[in-house]
Amino acid sequence: MRSILVLNPKGGSGKTTIATHIAAWYALAGKQVALVDYDVQRCALDWLESRPTDRPVIHGVDGTQTRTRVPRNTEVVVMDAPAATHGKQLSELLRRAQTCIIPVVPSPVDLHAASRFIDELVEVGRVLSRRVRVATIANRVRENSPGRLEIEDFLRSMKLSDGRRLPFVAALRNTQNYVHAAERGLSVFEIAPSRAAHDVELWEPLLGWLESRRSLPT
Ligand SMILES: Nc1ncnc2c1ncn2[C@@H]1O[C@H](COP(=O)(O)OP(=O)(O)OP(=O)(O)O)[C@@H](O)[C@H]1O
Ligand SMILES: [Mg+2]
Repeated sequence: MRSILVLNPKGGSGKTTIATHIAAWYALAGKQVALVDYDVQRCALDWLESRPTDRPVIHGVDGTQTRTRVPRNTEVVVMDAPAATHGKQLSELLRRAQTCIIPVVPSPVDLHAASRFIDELVEVGRVLSRRVRVATIANRVRENSPGRLEIEDFLRSMKLSDGRRLPFVAALRNTQNYVHAAERGLSVFEIAPSRAAHDVELWEPLLGWLESRRSLPT
């Protein structure tokens, strides 16, 4: 079973947005998808509740319960981590994932927090031994702004403690398309291409990485 965790202890970095989009993308590709919401705020489950019944089905799982079970036929499990995940809870979630995506928004506070978090993450044994593969993405980037280059340079410079670089695999733009899609339980893959074709394009490197062996444990 493919398992993908979206993680960043900083609130509002786009974890739920990215997790719901990955779930929707695999569901659109015909996979049996489970979306596990580890946040007591249940934003991913709320998104699922507003999802139209004619859209490809995603099975919602409340990860805050003591026993978290996905349906037996699940092919892809996408996990939405809550803010402030550190220590034991961080290790627990990493233990369940083959792949971990860290969305970072381009603000000085967020870059600083991301830097500290990545320092914590690269000490985790499973990350160092490549039993979980980690990549970063930039989220809410304003195209043609100086902040864009800054965050891209910053994320490209992130390294594991053994010197290997963390892959930086996408820069998603800041657009109301995400907000409007989320209100309707949809993803940018499911709204009018006249509005969202460029956003879908910006997802391609991330989806390509998820489909490649580079995002799988060695
Ligand atoms: N690329 C984007 N462009 C515009 N708005 C976005 C984008 N990504 C996320 N948002 C909006 O930013 C807000 C925070 O995003 P989201 O809920 O995905 O973050 P989060 O990391 O899950 O937050 P939390 O830490 O509270 O769980 C939401 O209102 C979401 O719709
Ligand atoms: Mg969230």
